[in-house]
Amino acid sequence: MRHYLKLTTNISMLVAMLGLGWGFTNNDPKPKVEDEKMNEFIDSLINEMTIEEKAGQLTLYTSGWDVTGPVLRDDYMDELRAGRAGNLFNAHTVDYAINLQKIAVEETRLGIPLLFGLDVIHGYKTTFPIPLAEAASWDLEVIEKTAHLYSKEAASAGINWTYNPMVDIARDPRWGRIAEGSGEDPYLGGLIGAAKVRGIQGMDLSDPTTILACVKHFAAYGASQAGRDYHTVDMSDRELRQNYLPPYKVALDAGATTVMTSFNEVDGVPASGNKYLMTEILRNEWGFDGFVVTDYTSINEMVPHGVVADLKEAAELAFNAGVQMDMQGGVYSQYIPELIAEGKIKEATLDEYVRQVLEMKYKLGLFEDPYRYLNKEREQETLYSKELMDHALLAAKESIVLLKNEPAKGQSEQLLPLKKSLNSVALIGPLADNQKDMLGTWHVAGDETKVVTLIDGIKQTAPNVKINYARGADFNGDDRSGFAEAIAAAKKSDVVIMAIGEDYTQSGEAASRSEIGLPGPQQALIEEIHALGKPVVAVVMAGRPLTIEWIDENIPAVMNAWHLGTMSGPAIAQTLFGDHNPAGKLTITFPKNVGQIPVYYNMKNTGRPFDANNKYTSKYLDVSNEPLYPFGYGKSYTSFDYSGIELSSTNMEMNGSITVSATIKNTGKYAGKEVVQFYIRDLVGSVTRPVKELKGFEKISLAPGESKKVSFTVTVKDLEFYTRDMSYKAEPGDFKVFIGPSSAEGLEADFTLK
Ligand code: NOJ
Repeated sequence: MRHYLKLTTNISMLVAMLGLGWGFTNNDPKPKVEDEKMNEFIDSLINEMTIEEKAGQLTLYTSGWDVTGPVLRDDYMDELRAGRAGNLFNAHTVDYAINLQKIAVEETRLGIPLLFGLDVIHGYKTTFPIPLAEAASWDLEVIEKTAHLYSKEAASAGINWTYNPMVDIARDPRWGRIAEGSGEDPYLGGLIGAAKVRGIQGMDLSDPTTILACVKHFAAYGASQAGRDYHTVDMSDRELRQNYLPPYKVALDAGATTVMTSFNEVDGVPASGNKYLMTEILRNEWGFDGFVVTDYTSINEMVPHGVVADLKEAAELAFNAGVQMDMQGGVYSQYIPELIAEGKIKEATLDEYVRQVLEMKYKLGLFEDPYRYLNKEREQETLYSKELMDHALLAAKESIVLLKNEPAKGQSEQLLPLKKSLNSVALIGPLADNQKDMLGTWHVAGDETKVVTLIDGIKQTAPNVKINYARGADFNGDDRSGFAEAIAAAKKSDVVIMAIGEDYTQSGEAASRSEIGLPGPQQALIEEIHALGKPVVAVVMAGRPLTIEWIDENIPAVMNAWHLGTMSGPAIAQTLFGDHNPAGKLTITFPKNVGQIPVYYNMKNTGRPFDANNKYTSKYLDVSNEPLYPFGYGKSYTSFDYSGIELSSTNMEMNGSITVSATIKNTGKYAGKEVVQFYIRDLVGSVTRPVKELKGFEKISLAPGESKKVSFTVTVKDLEFYTRDMSYKAEPGDFKVFIGPSSAEGLEADFTLK
């Protein structure tokens, strides 16, 4: 009946005859026989397509949800049947998606299968820690496995494309979307992005447990002015290339197949119409050969941005900038035929764009079997499987950062870990017995009823400890009517655990805050509890760094537990009671107050670096330059000593390398893990260089008393930067190296690049 089906059959037969696999591995070096067959197949398909059908392949619409499940608007249904909507997102579960795929395959003229996209940001059903939390694990294997597992779970429910990884560098914790990325460092951010791409796409896209990744938001979305979402971005090309672009590039080099534009403008041109970004950098410089999708209606938003007068001009600008797919805007579908007729865009380019989309469908194996991701049995076996839940617990534990651990007043031992022999604890705060908020932002399909709360986690971990629970306060407003109950609970308990922070709506998209302290009356509550003189542990759960200077000054033990997902409760409880020794390290600086923002570790020195004896140096009158907690910071129940920094040579040739090593010893009484960090400073450059740059790290495990020598190799690659004439190279001269437990402490040595 349909020509393409005939083609498919032919191609399948050919594949079978030749005994070829349909597997396409990442980073395929050269076109193989499979690629030639694919090209032939796609060529024939494109030859068959009308302009409208071609525009349809470049169109993506969302499915909505109502109380009983997903629903697609009637008008999208018509578009789908007419071949004018080739891709859907937010349409998931096998039962729902299979009917839509059937319509695409059986009722459209050419029967081209749909891509099904979804924001699987840190989990599908089983929810893992928010990305900013998991970054604090500094554990690329854990991160890759998490990404593999949530992709596998989503894939079992019909999804074959996710809008992940988000690799936007962010230095402003007012920005709610800081929760979705890996923090402030371009080097670590790139490695984490690449680990996620490997986890999501695997080695073979036609394997139904792997799906397409999408590197976003290209570009520099994290630099929205004043941390206000969707706001303007403006920076020098040097800053863009040096600090903001590298993670996108590294994630793409790991084989990511798609890219999403950002909402913001860069140098006056919104990303979705920005040819410099989408064509010159992405295609010409980086050689990207997948496809670019816009962020939600961002083509349309170029009208209020003020670079085009109407939607037709917007479609033209985006198309000619090098954007393949229109998410939700409907403008490609509406205007491409006219723009072609008027000669404003080229049909050859349209064909090229369609090819880029069809290639992905082909590589996923959808032409061979459009129902490859739609297997009900696999879905049932996979959702919330033990493998997923076990890893969700492990990842949650690895994400926890211990910020402070001192003895309570009148005690000599550090307050944490708590003893399971305690008679009672008071568990106070809006996150103590709370399922939904532990899921954090972007828990698209996560089922809150599966979340193990902190109160249940403590019951499981320390069953003999009596828990006196009180919610005490809410996340908003100033209702203090719950304080009395909380105070009573605290008074009758040995230790107080305060479970405080943000709810899941207070970070994420469109969730910027201008003040980033504890929201609602929680600050007042903790101050009143503190005044009772009981030992207090603060467990802070939030999607961003909070300004918790008062807590740091007054509360003896502070743990940052972010939003850790389905297994939050057991992860936190096991850490509080010492079954797990925390080893997370911040990948984002915690400011003391909002006025310090942006405050980040890899800053420049300035011509007047702070000097306490000189008034005319760079500082504030009312707060120090130091952040509350620096990048890379995090404590353990044990202690580590760093000693004996050594260089294999104090001179390095341009084509040579040197090794820098130090010995780390566990000097405490608990076994523990430590993220050993390696930083470099280039003392003099043709342009100013940061005071420190992360260039390596290693997470090691040490038993009490054990020590280990950790080594880092420096090559010229680690020393390259955009020099004054914008060439990317290293310049001879003197460098400092640092090995330490954070960006603010450590051992130091020097070498010279000849
Ligand atoms: C808007 C967000 O900016 C983006 O990250 C997300 O992938 C899309 N919406 C689709 O939900």
